[in-house]
Parts: sequence; structure tokens; C-alpha cells
Amino acid sequence: MKWMIVKKAEELANVSYQLLKQEILRHPEGLTIGLATGSSPLGVYEEWRKDQLDCRHVTTVNLDEYVGLSPDHPHSYHTFMKEHLFETVTFKESYLPIGNTADPVEESDRYEHLVRTLGIDIQLLGIGSNGHIAFNEPGTPFDAKTHVTELTESTRLANQRFFDRLEDVPSEAITMGIGTIMEAKKILLVASSERKAEAIRDMMEGPATVDCPATILQRHADVMVVLDEEAASLLSEEAKRTGRAAYTNFMK
Ligand code: F6R
Repeated sequence: MKWMIVKKAEELANVSYQLLKQEILRHPEGLTIGLATGSSPLGVYEEWRKDQLDCRHVTTVNLDEYVGLSPDHPHSYHTFMKEHLFETVTFKESYLPIGNTADPVEESDRYEHLVRTLGIDIQLLGIGSNGHIAFNEPGTPFDAKTHVTELTESTRLANQRFFDRLEDVPSEAITMGIGTIMEAKKILLVASSERKAEAIRDMMEGPATVDCPATILQRHADVMVVLDEEAASLLSEEAKRTGRAAYTNFMK
């Protein structure tokens, strides 16, 4: 695992977008990028929208979608992606799980097959304050494939800010599994704010355990973590020094 620590949110967005852009430019023949929703990637998507990079050779595939919400539902992840990226940047193709399907289990299997067929070159991830990645909540087996999952109360509370009321936050989601995510060739995880500090410390410096799903990333060969100072605040002093130096080197 490699990591960089930046001071401000703008730097976090900029450096993360630059890493994605490097990958896009490195693959003129086409590539697949795994995308996330939530607050963490918002700045990255803003940079992407501003850059006007030709992405017509890029396929995107999102991590998850709420069960029960149609693609055009105002709070669906389809709508989120449309508003923050797809309306401005033209991709070859973009996929998310279909949330309002009659059979979410069958939809999970279909999506797993799709993701494996496409093959993800680089996966963008956020992290939950309980250490979840995508919607793989604590306790999810490390080899899980795309599946239907019940959202924990803490995740529903954290995501309430996107909805009018807690009752409106769906209780289930279709999510890529941890095993699915681990198949990605590269992983880029971004985290900001002290809300994430404990999960980040556990992910980087704790033992690999299903109690903190992100700890599995210690076993992936190519992971870059981009953090702000608050998210990095509980790391050892040595890890902080390494992360700050890595950012300075990257900017040279
Ligand atoms: C989103 C996703 C989630 C979020 C995580 C962090 O597609 O899969 O795992 O990345 O819940 O959310 P934010 O970024 O809103 O703090």
C-alpha cells in the first residue's frame, strides 16, 4: 500500500484526479474505471468536469446502487453520477447496478459477470467511518462477490444527508463484493475529515480483519491512498512523514 497526505481538500481532489488521468492517458486503446459515489469523490469529479479530457475510450462501472430506487429516482446513484459526471464528460459506456429490479439477487449475479468481463483497470474508492468499502459492511467475507446487502444503521445515518428523512434511506443495496473489488488492477482510495481517521488507521496499520473490510486492501498489490491531514491524524508519525514526503515528490 502506498499513500500521500495532502493539506487541503482541493489538493486531495487534484492529486486523485491526476492519478486517474495518468491511467486514462496510458490506455489510449481503452480502459475501464470503477467509480464511487458519496462525498469523497465529489472534488475528483469536479476536476474531471473542468478538465475536458477526451474520455470516449473509457468505460465506467460503479460500485453500488440502492435496492428499490429506479435509475431516474432523484436519490439513486444513477442520478448522482449523471449530475456529477456523466452529463458533462462523455464516456464510451457507463454501468451501475439496476436498483428497482424485480430480482436483486439475479441483478447482482448479472452485474458481477459484467464487471468480471470488463475487468477494472483502476477502481476509485471512498471508505465508510466503520471501514466499509462499497457497501461491504463489517463482517462481510473477504471473497464476497457482487451481492445484496443490508445497510447498517450507521451507514444509513451517514447517508441520510442525501435524503429528506432517515425513513427515506433504503435499507438494502446491491454492491460489488470485496472479492470483486480486489480483482481491480489498481485501487485509488480517497478519504478526508477526522470522521475517517479511525478507519484509515485500522486499514493501514491494523491487522487484516473482516471487522474493518478495508483492511483487505493490505493484500492488494497496487493501492494508492490519498488522505488529508485529518483523515491521517491517527496514523503513526512515521506513516505521516512518509505520506507527506510522497505528496511532495509527486508534485515535483
Ligand atoms: C459509494 C460507496 C461508499 C462510500 C463510503 C464513504 O459508492 O460505495 O462505500 O465510498 O460510504 O462515503 P462518503 O464519501 O460520503 O463519506
